[in-house]
Amino acid sequence: LGQTVVFEEVVDSTQDVAHKTAQKGAEHGTIVVTDKQLKGRGRRNRIWASDHAEGLWLSMILRPELSPFEASQFTLFTAVSLVETLQKLTGLTIHIKWPNDLYIRNRKVCGILTEMQAELESVNYIIIGFGLNVNQTEDHFTDAIRERSTSLSLESNRTWDRIQLLQAILEDFETNYYKYQQEGFSYIRKKWLHYAYKLGEEVKIITPHRSFFGIIDGISADGALIVLNENGEKEVIYSAEIHW
Ligand code: BTN
Repeated sequence: LGQTVVFEEVVDSTQDVAHKTAQKGAEHGTIVVTDKQLKGRGRRNRIWASDHAEGLWLSMILRPELSPFEASQFTLFTAVSLVETLQKLTGLTIHIKWPNDLYIRNRKVCGILTEMQAELESVNYIIIGFGLNVNQTEDHFTDAIRERSTSLSLESNRTWDRIQLLQAILEDFETNYYKYQQEGFSYIRKKWLHYAYKLGEEVKIITPHRSFFGIIDGISADGALIVLNENGEKEVIYSAEIHW
């Protein structure tokens, strides 16, 4: 993974560049990385402010053999692998908020966005993008997100070399990817539970259909969130926002 690197100083979104690159036949593991994005995007069509060169803005093309149904495993896989690398390098304690946010203390440090090109039964390719806040100071965050955001630098009082971080992230990604292929999702699931934020705690769960308070109980074999609802029954959630 990361054998082929496409670097452009400024792009609209590395996700778009990655889609185009994949459609031209780019190999599994190709990465697209940039300094600045003019139209960085997050989940649910949110804007991902990334027009400054203090973060790691990256998209990776994967061509796994799986069904569209299993693709969400990759978001969880990415989160687990990133946590491991970042904890090792920085010594900070990092948690995963389902499905795709990395948190330090109570603040978001990284977001992951998975997009795919799939036909009925099979996945053509997956693009996994992540935005990692590295050397931002508080001024880099907009008023709307400042209170809820952080960077590695803010948490550790030093700056980080983005290239070194990238190398370490890709190395661990490769190792973990291999293990994941050998051992299946249970390998990732176990680790995910270890890093899960608010496991066993009550949170507010907002699904497209309703919102309710529930206790985070774990994740299913295909990466869905399992919660205990108001009546103490288990519910499997595929799409939701979690608040506390
Ligand atoms: C989220 O938290 O909602 C996901 C944020 C994902 C941001 C990354 S930055 C690199 C890649 N390019 C984008 O436009 N988005 C992702």
